[in-house]
Amino acid sequence: MEIIIAPTYQEMSKISAHFIAREIKKKHDIVLGLATGDTPIGTYQELVKVHKEEGLDFSKITTFNLDEYVGLPPLHKNSYNYFMQDNLFRHVNVNQANVYVPQGNTEDPEEFSAWYEQQIKNAGGIDFQILGIGRDGHIGFNEPGSSFASRTRVKALYKQTIEDNARFFDRIEDVPRFAITMGVGTILEAKKILLIANGEKKADVVAQFIEGPVTSQITATALQLHTLATVVLDEAAASKLKRKEYYNWVRDNKHLVQKMVGR
Ligand code: F6R
Repeated sequence: MEIIIAPTYQEMSKISAHFIAREIKKKHDIVLGLATGDTPIGTYQELVKVHKEEGLDFSKITTFNLDEYVGLPPLHKNSYNYFMQDNLFRHVNVNQANVYVPQGNTEDPEEFSAWYEQQIKNAGGIDFQILGIGRDGHIGFNEPGSSFASRTRVKALYKQTIEDNARFFDRIEDVPRFAITMGVGTILEAKKILLIANGEKKADVVAQFIEGPVTSQITATALQLHTLATVVLDEAAASKLKRKEYYNWVRDNKHLVQKMVGR
């Protein structure tokens, strides 16, 4: 895992947008896996900026979102589909026919999940997956105990996730109890992964998932099993890492490291 610690949320967002833009430029028809939540908002704003100012072309890309609340129709203001349209898709020249977000109000979530997995396969798999992390260590909505082999399916949300996400709803009772989410196994099949995290409230879980043992109780630890996973943090989220100096040395001496490892 490569760990990059940025001084601020803005810098974290710029660095991650730069990584994504670089991948899009390398492969115009890239398949991106996307996350919602507060964390990637700055990254998406930066990407929109690069599109508007430098003409970054989204017209050939395909996107798959990680998750969606069960029961919410795509146009609901709290749906992740709405979030993506609002924060990214309607500001860039993405082809809406190539945009996939799990359908929260599907009549048959099981059948839908199998269909979603098939669409990812048909697209050739995910080239570059963007992730956030929940305070319980989830990636997507793979709550504690999710199998590392899991595929897209319905998951019941953990109490902490419901409490954390209540800020988007009028009342905590309105937060859906279930979500359709890509599985840990689905995520691990992405060719490259970028996880971003910011703020002090993520510091404990960030230290656990980077420096702690691999466990399905913290599903983000699955990234330790991936060969091309990068983590971009702000200082606050990185504040409880024990080996911060080492990560910073590697970041600052990347030219030497690249020479040695060929990356
Ligand atoms: C959202 C998702 C979640 C979030 C996580 C962090 O699509 O997959 O795993 O990334 O809950 O959310 P924020 O960024 O709001 O702290």
